[in-house]
Amino acid sequence: MSATPAPHDELRARLRQQAQGAMSLNVAYIGVVNGLFESLHGLGAAAAPRLAAAARMDPGYVLRWCDAAYAFGYLDEQDGEFRLAAAGQAMCPSQPGTLMSIAVRSVLSAHMAERAAALMRSGERPGEQVLAERETVLPWFGPMLEADFGSMFENTICPAIEAFGEVDSRGGLAVDLGCGNGWYLRALARRCTGLRGLGIDGFAQNIEQARRLAEDEGLGARLRFVQGDIHELQLPEPADLIAMNRALHHVWERDPDALFRWLRANLKPGGYAMVWEPAWPGERAALREPGYQRMAFQNLTEHVQGNHLLRPQEIVQAFESVGMPAQVHSFAQGAEVVIVARA
Ligand SMILES: C[S@@+](CC[C@H](N)C(=O)[O-])C[C@H]1O[C@@H](n2cnc3c(N)ncnc32)[C@H](O)[C@@H]1O
Repeated sequence: MSATPAPHDELRARLRQQAQGAMSLNVAYIGVVNGLFESLHGLGAAAAPRLAAAARMDPGYVLRWCDAAYAFGYLDEQDGEFRLAAAGQAMCPSQPGTLMSIAVRSVLSAHMAERAAALMRSGERPGEQVLAERETVLPWFGPMLEADFGSMFENTICPAIEAFGEVDSRGGLAVDLGCGNGWYLRALARRCTGLRGLGIDGFAQNIEQARRLAEDEGLGARLRFVQGDIHELQLPEPADLIAMNRALHHVWERDPDALFRWLRANLKPGGYAMVWEPAWPGERAALREPGYQRMAFQNLTEHVQGNHLLRPQEIVQAFESVGMPAQVHSFAQGAEVVIVARA
């Protein structure tokens, strides 16, 4: 006679597997942010002390990390020397198609969950600074978004939206509000050779990173990055394109009417505003779909920062209220939208 499964057996097994997955990503995170995967990639094979020296990390910690990374299959070992297994190779930030953003997002999510758990008691919403509370996370915030969305922009979004062709032929000034590490302007500048760019972000660290990366790509003369607050911004000249990528929901709660009047007033005639946002669904039932589950969690953590995700139609209406008809372009099975409006 077969034994009756104890209550929750299946659920317990599934949750334990998920917890194991989170642990594996925690191990990967440590290797990503401390350059361990990258150093081992350069060394080929190395014992833990040599890896520690190459990455300039404490040998005691690196030895324990090597054991953990070996346990979770990121490293292989032979005669006391470690090498990257395929999963470790995939965590190298410099590798095309790197998966490091999954590890960074996992640890950022744990941090945000802990903050939401504590702040729910008082209702306090401390704002953007929550992202900077973990010294190792903020420098990886921009690279995480670039790894997640950079190729989608270049390979899917740009070819699908005709307005980018016109942005290219117009040239002029493209402004990126809430630019993060500046990946969007770098991608645009590579594509549209007559375009200059101005990126604005609230975090000094993002601006430093954006400047350095633009310089590294030889785009420093065309792209300028300035620390500033979107709410108090004055542009040096009207823009041909104003883009906001995952940034509108960060500033929406303050005064959306003023923001959209500002966008209209700071575009040249015929210039474009392009807003890329996760698309909060109209129906709660959609949140059960795999692509939306993470969006539901994101929206909980956005609340901590004083934000909430938006329905595409709210953005369209905001453009229309300042006399800019807007078009919604959907991507990723509708989970991502780019809304294009013309002055
Ligand atoms: C989710 S990130 C998106 C970054 C970038 N656009 C991308 O797609 O990778 C939102 C960005 O908006 C910036 N931000 C939020 N509120 C801002 C404000 N009031 N002024 C300037 N930047 C702001 C944040 O610092 C952050 O880099």
